[in-house]
Amino acid sequence: MIRVLFVCLGNICRSPMAEGVFRHLVEQEGLAGHFAIESVGTGAWHIGEPPHRGTQRELRARGVDLSGKRSRQVTTGDVETSDYVIAMDRSNLHNLQRHDPNGQLDGKAHLLLDFADGVDARDVPDPYYEGKFDRVYNLVEAGCHGLLDYIREEEEI
Ligand code: 4NP
Repeated sequence: MIRVLFVCLGNICRSPMAEGVFRHLVEQEGLAGHFAIESVGTGAWHIGEPPHRGTQRELRARGVDLSGKRSRQVTTGDVETSDYVIAMDRSNLHNLQRHDPNGQLDGKAHLLLDFADGVDARDVPDPYYEGKFDRVYNLVEAGCHGLLDYIREEEEI
């Protein structure tokens, strides 16, 4: 099983979107049996909440179902058991260090947009205050495509 963990701040906007998009892609490629896909937040404010309605709207428009998702906060165990820890922005990467007492992040933590072809930005912008969920979706989708290509090559699947 290849364990992929998407990480943002609140786990209600960006990382649940990435979770839904990546799972949908994996299913379309017939690879669902290879993957365990999850998302978490570094912060605790929204624990137990469903994804933001902006995220739900973008996903629903593309037929991606994430209805059962509830926000949760990252644990040290998540970091230890995941093979790929995919952060939405650089502050998430920084915050993750608090949950990595054994120094396991090096080598398995990445920024999602480092996999997005033709995208200069490194950080997925936080839509919680600014909205623009459609732009966030386009960035997340580009990152997820590149990420799946990368993992397929790494894992030879
Ligand atoms: P997310 O967005 O990290 O993409 O889920 C945010 C959600 C909530 C907050 C910040 C960002 N907040 O400050 O509560």
